[in-house]
Amino acid sequence: LQLHRIVMVGAGGVGKSALTVKYISGDFVQEYDPTKADSYQKRVVLDDGPCTVDILDTAGQEEYAAIRDNYYRRRDGFLLVFSLCERDSFLEMDQLRRQIMRVLDEDVIDFGSNGASNINGGNALSIGTNGAVDIPMVLIGNKSDLADMYRQVSVEEAQELALSWNTMYIETSAKTGQGVEEAYTELLRLVNRR
Ligand code: GTP
Ligand code: MG
Repeated sequence: LQLHRIVMVGAGGVGKSALTVKYISGDFVQEYDPTKADSYQKRVVLDDGPCTVDILDTAGQEEYAAIRDNYYRRRDGFLLVFSLCERDSFLEMDQLRRQIMRVLDEDVIDFGSNGASNINGGNALSIGTNGAVDIPMVLIGNKSDLADMYRQVSVEEAQELALSWNTMYIETSAKTGQGVEEAYTELLRLVNRR
């Protein structure tokens, strides 16, 4: 059975664990228990047949930042998650993405804000038509159930960021389940397409 390894990335408390548990079991985790690192597996059926999804749920809290790099290695795709109700978690996204790219290809020396990159030969990653290194990623705005009252990030600016990454933006709620299946499925499609 084919194995797809994906990683949850984002600031502390944005809902990476809650989304993962929702996707795996359908349950909503109400309490906040900061993660160090947890791993989950699920059998799913994609367009081209069954596969196993391995989800690595990483720590958002700053004191674990140093151990993150190793989790990014040998992974197939990334869900980059922020909370719609916490602007700072959105502002961290671009830097987290750069960190992933740096780890996956130490040869990426200058990743410009326009998506252009200078690649220093010999790397194993494919380069997209816009010059960006092609790593399957989807941008997730979580806690959509709270957005009516507490939204701090507009749909437009999140879409704009996703567009600059040449990927898609999906809003989710780990509480209601809105967008959760779609988020993982879209990422797995991108992974499959490589
Ligand atoms: P770290 O493990 O520290 O990186 O945090 P995390 O990103 O895994 O956050 P976690 O999933 O533990 O969620 C933090 C808190 O937010 C918990 O109390 C969750 O119940 C809550 N939460 C997560 N997602 C949602 C959501 O979509 N809606 C609502 N209302 N609460 C959510
Ligand atoms: Mg967690």
